Amino acid sequence: MRSNVTTFLIGAILGAGLRDLLRNLSLNYKGDDEEPIYVELESQFILSPDILYAILKKFTECMSNGLAEENYKDMPMIPSFVERLPKGNETGYFLAIDLGGTNARICLVDLKGTREQPVLIQKKAVVPDDVKAGKSEDLFNWLADLTFEFVNENEITNEEKIKLGFTFSFPVVQSGLSKGKLTQWAKGFSCEGVVGKDVVEPLQKALHNKGLEIEVVALVNDTVGTLVSHSYVDEMTFMGVILGILILNVSKGTGTNAAYVEECSRIKKKDLKGKQMVINTEWGAFDSERKYLPYTKYDNHLNKESLYPNQQNFEKMISGMYLGEITRHVLVDLHARGLLFPASNINCLLKRESFLTSQMSRIERDNSKNLDDVKIVLEKNIGISETDLNDRKLVKHVCKCVGTRAAQLSAMAIGAVLKHSGRWDCTVAIDGSLFEHYPNFKLRIQQTLRQLFGVVSDDVKLSLANDGSGIGAALIAASC
Ligand code: BGC
Repeated sequence: MRSNVTTFLIGAILGAGLRDLLRNLSLNYKGDDEEPIYVELESQFILSPDILYAILKKFTECMSNGLAEENYKDMPMIPSFVERLPKGNETGYFLAIDLGGTNARICLVDLKGTREQPVLIQKKAVVPDDVKAGKSEDLFNWLADLTFEFVNENEITNEEKIKLGFTFSFPVVQSGLSKGKLTQWAKGFSCEGVVGKDVVEPLQKALHNKGLEIEVVALVNDTVGTLVSHSYVDEMTFMGVILGILILNVSKGTGTNAAYVEECSRIKKKDLKGKQMVINTEWGAFDSERKYLPYTKYDNHLNKESLYPNQQNFEKMISGMYLGEITRHVLVDLHARGLLFPASNINCLLKRESFLTSQMSRIERDNSKNLDDVKIVLEKNIGISETDLNDRKLVKHVCKCVGTRAAQLSAMAIGAVLKHSGRWDCTVAIDGSLFEHYPNFKLRIQQTLRQLFGVVSDDVKLSLANDGSGIGAALIAASC
């Protein structure tokens, strides 16, 4: 249910002001004779500056609470025990295992002691569904098997144990650089016997059982890895962000989250000796009680059906894992109301996850007069029996509304961290194909930053940081 404050604000901002805002956010309009359904969708999904300010206020409060309280649900603000960014003179071979969502990667990183992008050899595999839903040993043995194959295929040998950084991109509470317990699963995983336990120990054991001379020296979130690896090539890097999407069945950084450099004096919940430490915000968990974000009935539907109801609520509005599904709920509702595909059979759309975020991205990219590619996506790829131009325009509009909201919320969150830190002249390293491939996503973030924070936000450089998490983990391992 919408909170009262946002219901009130949505009512108040409808009209010319909202239109201008939408124009600025790269939404195209049909003209002044729009049908009410276009306006209805905009009012449900597009967030006015007032709504965003209200969310920003809560988001910022939650960041401060998370820095002060252990296990703060709304924003865990997890100390990573990474106390410094790389100097750029690190050398040697390091391994990384990167378990991020749909895929796992094993990487060998050759650090040359220069600030150039390090050389990376890697092997990727899709995590099988039975491993995702199996037992703890199945998961860690599967990772060890993959590492074993990689080490043999690349004939990796070393006189001493090779150091490995383990990128584990799930909510973990760390008690040291190489120690951390999983607090809850996300992104389609539900392995038994992992939640509440340390994740480094079983990995180390599985590698040892395979006879591999490897020492797991660091446990790293993908956002921390992205921040660290990008800072290697750009010293101005202050934040690492993941904005993930599904591209067909392959995913990179499926969720959303961010890490940044914090002053230890502000991390009240820990008695830390150093000056600074990287904090993994786990911002995907924001609004654990569903009080602050303007949920539509479609979001509520998705939440109810999800593997983790009432968890990762912020992530559910931003991550590519969910955007296609939210859009699908809207399309099914519009059909039921007789407003979309009136003459078509849409049984194919009734199945969960039958509409992908990558298809939204393709639909938004189609600027042809008759929306020819939208027709292909809807009819050929999804299987809707027939569409006309009005259907296609409306579907494109739904995608724009859902996609724009995700960009607005991403911008609010990035800006919240920068404002909290008083840092605008910096680089924000962003990985994930939502940022990389979704049409206008970066532009919409920039425009929303400008709307909310003014000209200071022009100093922020939003940089694409591809595949940084593995290199980052290796760089952190190098510092051990
Ligand atoms: C996880 C984070 C991770 C993010 C991006 C979220 O679901 O909780 O730890 O950083 O996805 O991969």
